[in-house]
Amino acid sequence: MADATVTDVTTTHEHLSELDALMRPGIIELGIGHPAQELLPIEAMRQANADAVARYGPHMLSYGYTTGPSPLADWLRDRIARQEGQAVAADEIAISGGISDALDQLVTMCTQPGDVVLVESPTYHFGVRVLRDRPVRLVPVPHAADQPDTAALAERITQLKRDGQRPRLLYCVPTYNNPTGISWTDATRRAVVELAANEDILIIEDDVYRDLPLDGDAPASLWASAPRGVVARLGSFSKSVAPGLRVGWITAGNEVIGRIRDCGLMDSRGGCNQYTALAVAAYCESGAFEDHLAQFRAAYRARRDVLCAALAEHLPAGCTFDAPSGGFFLWLRLPDGMRARALKPIAEQHGVSFAPSHRFYVDESVARDDAMRLAFTMYDEAQLIEGARRLGAAVRQLMK
Ligand SMILES: Cc1ncc(COP(=O)(O)O)c(C=O)c1O
Repeated sequence: MADATVTDVTTTHEHLSELDALMRPGIIELGIGHPAQELLPIEAMRQANADAVARYGPHMLSYGYTTGPSPLADWLRDRIARQEGQAVAADEIAISGGISDALDQLVTMCTQPGDVVLVESPTYHFGVRVLRDRPVRLVPVPHAADQPDTAALAERITQLKRDGQRPRLLYCVPTYNNPTGISWTDATRRAVVELAANEDILIIEDDVYRDLPLDGDAPASLWASAPRGVVARLGSFSKSVAPGLRVGWITAGNEVIGRIRDCGLMDSRGGCNQYTALAVAAYCESGAFEDHLAQFRAAYRARRDVLCAALAEHLPAGCTFDAPSGGFFLWLRLPDGMRARALKPIAEQHGVSFAPSHRFYVDESVARDDAMRLAFTMYDEAQLIEGARRLGAAVRQLMK
C-alpha cells in the first residue's frame, strides 16, 4: 500500500474489498487478476473528487442523464476519435457502470428468453456468469491455435439456423484476451465481423484491456473496423484507473444505445454512477489519466518480463507460453498429459496458486484441463520470481 493511513484502514476491517476475502496467507495468488494495489491513484483521485465537487456542485448529487454526464462522454468521444480514428456521435456512446453492468444491460435489452448467445471459448469466466443469469442459451465458439475457429463459428451458425434458432449476440474478448493474453489476428477480426454482419448478429466486444498495450499499439478494435451497428464495444476504467470506480462506457450504433437510453432501469435511476462519473471526468480532464496509465503500463511491462524470464528459468521442458503483448494475463500450457486441476492442490502446498483452464469454458465437458491463467499485475517482481520458482517445483513433483 502507498501510505500508512491506507494500510491501517485495510488491515483493521475484514470486508473492505474483494481482495480481503480472496488472499490466503502464505500463497502467492497468481490466479487473481487484480491491479497493482500500491499503484492505484489515490492522491490523484482525491484531487479529482475535490475538483469535481467544486466544478459540478449539486449536479454531482443529482440523478444523471440516462446515457451519462456529458463531461465524461465528451472526453471519451474526443479521445476515441484521436486514438482510433473513428468519430463517435453523441448518440453512439453511453456511460456504463463498467463492463459487467454493460454486458448485463445489453443481454437484457437485446435478447428474448431462449435466444442463442455465441460465446468465445475460452473466455472471461465472470462474463459467462453474467450471461448465465439471463434466460438465454450459451453456445461456445471454440478456439483453434488460440484464435476463434471461424470455420467452426460459421458451421455452428448454419446448424443453429437449421434448428430454427438465430443467434442474437456474440460475446468475445479480441484484444489481450482473458484468459489467454493473446489478441485476435487481423484475419480473424475481419472474418468474425463479416460473418456477424451477414448474419445480423450483434458482436459484444469486451475491450477492457485496450489501454494496456505493453509492446507497440493495441490492434484496432472490432468496433472501429466494422460497419456501424455490427459491434457494441464495451470499455472500462477498471483496468486503466481502478475497478472500485465502477465506471465504463459503450460505443455502439445509435439503435443499441437507444435501447440502453430508453430502458426502465435508466429511466428510474437516471444514468449510471453519476457522482463517480463526474469525478472520473475531472480526473481525465486534468491529465492524470494519461500520466497514471503510463505508470501502470511501465510497471506491468516490467512485471510481465520478470514473470516470463522466471517461468523460462524454473519450469521444466514441456511447459510453454507466449509472452502477452498487453493486458493482465499469461496462458501457460502444461506438459503432455498433465492436468491443471491435479496440479493446483500440489502448487498450493508449495505456496502458489493459479486459475486452471477449465474455468474459462462455457461447456465444461469439452474444457481444456492442460493450461492455466497467470496474472502478472498484482505482485512485485521478487514475488513473481518466487511464484514461478514454486510453480516449477510443483510441476516437477507431479511429473515424478
Ligand atoms: C475480460 C474482462 N471483462 C470485464 C472485466 C470486468 O470489467 P468491469 O470491472 O468493468 O466490470 C474483466 C475483469 O477482470 C475482464 O477481465
